[in-house]
Amino acid sequence: MTTGAPGPTAPAGRRTVHLAAHFPGVNSTTVWADPRAESQIAFSSFERLARTAERGLFDFFFLAEGLRLREHKGRIHDLDVVGRPESLTVLNALAAVTDRLGLAATVNATFNEPFELARRLATLDRLSEGRAAWNVVTSSDAFTGENFRRGGYLDRADRYTRAAEFVATARELWDSWTPATPASPYGVPRPFAHTGRHFEIEGEFTVPRSPQGHPVVIQAGDSEEGREFAAATADVVFSRHSTLEAGRAFYADTKARLARHGRRPADLKIMPGATYVLGDTDAEAQEHAAEIRRQQVSPQNALLALERVWGRDLSAYDPEGPLPDIDPDPAAVIAQGRVTDGDPLAVAARWRALSEAKGLSIRGTVIETTARQTFVGSPRTVAEALDTFVQREAADGFILIPHLTPGGLDDFVDRVVPLLQERGVFRTEYAGTTLRSHLGLPDPVRKG
Ligand SMILES: Cc1cc2nc3c(=O)[nH]c(=O)nc-3n(C[C@H](O)[C@H](O)[C@H](O)COP(=O)(O)O)c2cc1C
Repeated sequence: MTTGAPGPTAPAGRRTVHLAAHFPGVNSTTVWADPRAESQIAFSSFERLARTAERGLFDFFFLAEGLRLREHKGRIHDLDVVGRPESLTVLNALAAVTDRLGLAATVNATFNEPFELARRLATLDRLSEGRAAWNVVTSSDAFTGENFRRGGYLDRADRYTRAAEFVATARELWDSWTPATPASPYGVPRPFAHTGRHFEIEGEFTVPRSPQGHPVVIQAGDSEEGREFAAATADVVFSRHSTLEAGRAFYADTKARLARHGRRPADLKIMPGATYVLGDTDAEAQEHAAEIRRQQVSPQNALLALERVWGRDLSAYDPEGPLPDIDPDPAAVIAQGRVTDGDPLAVAARWRALSEAKGLSIRGTVIETTARQTFVGSPRTVAEALDTFVQREAADGFILIPHLTPGGLDDFVDRVVPLLQERGVFRTEYAGTTLRSHLGLPDPVRKG
């Protein structure tokens, strides 16, 4: 059974903007030096951001996942990692203090087992009465795998075949209960049996279907395999492509893949991660953004970023001085647990060219190359830009990553959301109770 509530509707011919809130913490997005920054672990922080997102009528609250503390030069990387509680536990607690907000957990498909994870996700979906989502990630590194069974991870080629079978199996389990009837309001469990390349399991599933059928599936990988997996399986894509042109290219590519899987463009929502900085005027916002960038890339962080590319200890260099004239060591592994920027020699060449062209120091170069502010301007400028991205099919909406933990959404909700509402492209109240209804997604088709 699902609520079947309609998604939000925009004025004729205009597309609706979807918004979600990313709880910031790791990475240099969060400005820890700001006196308003609070704990990344205390429940009060999660609650504050989630309540703000719900006040702003957002579709969902999103938690990323890191299964191993990052290391730099063999030591815990303490500049951006201060611990990370397990997402489903946090979201179950948030289900009790929110009513409508979707609750999305990033959980790895490589290091879990379908029965157990399907049960935990279904539990969140029931406790929240149909608001759960699962961001399926596959984690690419053996470093993370060392924390898990069999001492390892999977080859690249196998990660998505396992993830696809994992999601299909979870859906078989979620579908294994009969629909609710007045006589049995939760339905009844039917035996399931799954035999595939990665899993062979049978039994009866323990948790009945939720009001949205089953959890929304999000996907966040970017490779060819990742995109195909999303087109075949996901309800939402969390993408990195947050500029207008890159967004439009990714959007067109991903939506074009859907037909091959018998799906319509509206069946998959594309939501890039996006940051923003507001000011009373555009000029003030630009100034503010430059200051935030300097706080995000502290002198120590600039050297760490440099060392990650060069693969060498560069602690003797002055972050305000020029880039080193030695070349990177492409074979060295100095940082563990991070996504790399590609071939170090090519990255170093790009950084050198930029630094020479603009006369930038090490820190200035890192600031320029790792820029994280997607939308900068007055509330009106930002609202217009978000709307333009959606109308021009660079996105269906955004997963907003504020730079303050946990108060970073306040200004957006107070100042930008009303302008989006004025433009008629954002809801003024939740139309339904489930995450699927907020996203305007079709009810899941029950198999079996
Ligand atoms: C925007 C974005 C966010 C991601 N967030 C996470 C995360 O929180 N935890 C994680 O383990 N992997 C995360 N990933 C990694 C991917 O899910 C995926 O495992 C990785 O990108 C390798 O897959 P690919 O080869 O398809 O890109 C993220 C990827 C993207 C693009």
